[in-house]
Amino acid sequence: MKSFNTQFDLIRQSATIAMADRIHVLNASGKNIVGLQVGDPDFGTDPAIVDVAYKAMRDGLTHYGSSRGMPELLSAVANKLMRDEGISYDPASEILISHGGIHAYYLAMQSILNPGDDVLIPDPSWATHTNMAIMLRGNVIRVPAPAENGFVPLFDSWLKALTPKTRVIVLNYPSNPTGSYPSREYLQKLQDFAAKNNLWIVSDEVYGSLYYEERPTSVAAIEGAKERTLIVNSLSKSYAMTGWRVGYLAAPARVIENAIKAGQNSITCVAPFIQKAAAFALTDPAIQEVTANMRAGYARRRDLVLRLSHELESDKVKVILPQGAFYFFLDLRAMKMPSVEMCEKILETESVGLVPGSAFGSEGEGFIRMTIAASDEDVEAGFRKIVEWADRQ
Ligand SMILES: Cc1ncc(COP(=O)(O)O)c(C=O)c1O
Repeated sequence: MKSFNTQFDLIRQSATIAMADRIHVLNASGKNIVGLQVGDPDFGTDPAIVDVAYKAMRDGLTHYGSSRGMPELLSAVANKLMRDEGISYDPASEILISHGGIHAYYLAMQSILNPGDDVLIPDPSWATHTNMAIMLRGNVIRVPAPAENGFVPLFDSWLKALTPKTRVIVLNYPSNPTGSYPSREYLQKLQDFAAKNNLWIVSDEVYGSLYYEERPTSVAAIEGAKERTLIVNSLSKSYAMTGWRVGYLAAPARVIENAIKAGQNSITCVAPFIQKAAAFALTDPAIQEVTANMRAGYARRRDLVLRLSHELESDKVKVILPQGAFYFFLDLRAMKMPSVEMCEKILETESVGLVPGSAFGSEGEGFIRMTIAASDEDVEAGFRKIVEWADRQ
């Protein structure tokens, strides 16, 4: 009998991907499903970005590149971090270009985690945060982030979760699936807690530029936090570049040294023509306007759902307004039905694709994630159908 890596027995199949596969089959069989399950912008990548990649390919940027990343893109990332977060990073030693945000997260965790280390992850949160830590033989402790506390953990919960083996806190603000983010004061307290207990903070900020009111603060911008913070980010969500697979890790130089070894020995480098296009996307002023317009589009859809929720006045579907990202985490706890069952029923009877809240942790039970990275028509039709279904039960 051959042996397998038993860590994978601890990882559940992604509910988002399972749902997407089912919808694909249903669409292929002629059903017209309103897909509100994916976290992929419905906007296309701006053609000017595509042109830069095309030209770079024609110019011969089709060979291996540095494992750290192209200097032009490293500088563009450093400038972005200064422009948006007010944090100074040395492009030569504190930044690494990655294969999207997910790979930046992998490099981050691979660089700091030892087997058996405790990793604190709020619940609910994106499943990869937990799965990756498990793959790397970390011991994940979920910290409840209840709706009643704005989907951020109470401070007591952080304290309760702490053990002598705790090494890392994983944050993701604005959050997938809830769209929430904490105040600067909260982050200051968290930094104090991390400093006192000598913890790393891995901060996944892939939705950092998708916010509806005040710009969220990066934890690395809090005084004293930069030296313990690893920022994970990408161009996927903010520039509608999910398929390009380009992101970055910004962290203390010693972490980046480890991450370069992990990148070198797994992917070698991110395709240089992709990096050239990413540098253009991060710096070109007209592209920043395009991003602002996308944000305005999501804001319009957020308002649309809010208006519909006032109009439909459902006792069963409670709308919590997201502060950022492009998801609603709809509260259907009044249904007293497992969220997997609700999503299956809504798919079967209403032809709307969603993700069960339990896919994000036990605190997500009773919730359903609905994306607004879809057309206004689909968002309206989908939301109406969810409410109609719930009110009929
Ligand atoms: C919280 C979070 N982090 C990271 C990612 C991955 O992004 P990327 O496409 O940059 O790998 C996602 C994608 O859904 C996400 O929701």
